[in-house]
Amino acid sequence: MASVGVDRISPMSDSTGIHLVILAAGQGTRMKSDIPKVLHQVNGLSMIERVLRTGESVGPETLTLVVGHRAETVREHLTGRRNLQFAIQEPQLGTAHALKQAEPLLANCTGTLILLSGDVPLLKPATLRRLVDVHRGAAAAATVVTATMEQPYGYGRIVRNRGRIARIVEERDASPAERRSKEINSGIYAFDLATLFDGLQAVASKNAQGEFYLTDIIAVYRRRKLRVETLLVNDAQEIRGINSRTELAEVSRLVRQTKNEELMAAGVTLVDPATTYIDADAEIAADTVIHPGVIIEGRTKIGSACEIQGHVRISDSEIGDGVKINNFCLISGAHVAPGAVIGPFAHLRPGTVVLDRAKIGNFVELKATTLGPRSKANHLSYLGDATIGADVNVGAGTITCNYDGVKKHKTVIEDGAFIGSDTQLIAPVTVGKGAYVGAGSSITQDVPAKALGIARSRQTNVEGWTERQKPRPE
Ligand code: UD1
Ligand code: CA
Repeated sequence: MASVGVDRISPMSDSTGIHLVILAAGQGTRMKSDIPKVLHQVNGLSMIERVLRTGESVGPETLTLVVGHRAETVREHLTGRRNLQFAIQEPQLGTAHALKQAEPLLANCTGTLILLSGDVPLLKPATLRRLVDVHRGAAAAATVVTATMEQPYGYGRIVRNRGRIARIVEERDASPAERRSKEINSGIYAFDLATLFDGLQAVASKNAQGEFYLTDIIAVYRRRKLRVETLLVNDAQEIRGINSRTELAEVSRLVRQTKNEELMAAGVTLVDPATTYIDADAEIAADTVIHPGVIIEGRTKIGSACEIQGHVRISDSEIGDGVKINNFCLISGAHVAPGAVIGPFAHLRPGTVVLDRAKIGNFVELKATTLGPRSKANHLSYLGDATIGADVNVGAGTITCNYDGVKKHKTVIEDGAFIGSDTQLIAPVTVGKGAYVGAGSSITQDVPAKALGIARSRQTNVEGWTERQKPRPE
């Protein structure tokens, strides 16, 4: 079709004039928690963080969070996020009352208000996009996201009249017939700002909880002959709300499953996805094999062709290609270079750097320590605040005594040094290039390059000693 002069951006795909409001003022009584509900984590990210990320995907002009219960804690959690404005709801008198608190902040705004619930964390950006399109396409005053659920208990139900939405009724206020309706309200809506706050004025609190329900605005709109649309999502899981610890666990399981499926589709082997816990922001490259019971947290990055054996926990760490991590290791804030082998039963604490093809064996703990390429610490050691060069052998039971009760001190072990078993290196101390330390030494002075440092008392053998002893009692 010939176009006439200017390209017109279709309003359907236009994100200007979108104002996002997220309700997060409620206490979340059913969680029985001291922590605000929206700060509880789903697969490594707080609910509110998830909702914000989804909301931001439609490029809103303004982003308003309604907070109330433990408002300061919620704000603190979100410090560092710019372009976020807060409306305070105090006391919390229901969802309609909550939205009303955002009115002064949106006084000069026009267009579409998208309302999200802080406790509905699985909503997909594509659904939100569709909500905007449907709402604007129909020039509706309100559009409600709905879904059909086999077990709709607890949700507000959509009541239809000759196919069109007539109102929403809450579980507690519903008649037995209304309760049988399986179409539920997700608590996610699009509103035309031109009519919204006037409509909210008409919402009363005559219901089982004595609250101002936002859901009542639908009946108000229908009375006023304003257009109300619904958007039915196919996957009801996407709009599941979290009100209790059981729901938190269920939703977390769904999120985990999705993350695991994404990883498997990208070439990662999960021996048992049901017992593999990988946080949202973790990245794992192809051909890595993850055994059962592994937990990967935070912004961890794992390279390709690694093997992570069972019951390993890795948080906020970077693991290079071809690394093998044996069973029962705890690794946090560490950097492990390609080809290294770790564990079993190793503890890599923050600031640990294990370089190429180095080996850490069982019951070895590292903290703020660099272990150079091909170096080994295979058994029962504590290495803290140490810089260890290449091709060093750290014998069994070596301990860097880095703490004098007041300050931490550094140990340096240079390339090619050999530390005999059961050595204590009393820091600050340096063992030079290619030096040897005799087993059982307490090293308090630097050992020069190529020297042998030995610091233990000489052995005495007393000849015939046992024969002079009284016979041992039977
Ligand atoms: C709400 C809907 C219900 C819907 C369900 C979907 C109402 C009356 N009911 O019920 O129809 O099926 O969500 O998950 O809207 N909040 C405030 N201030 C308040 C009360 C709540 O900010 O005074 C916030 C909460 O923090 C929460 C959200 O609003 O993020 C929803 O509140 P909640 O009490 O969980 O409502 P539901 O009973 O789940
Ligand atoms: Ca809820």
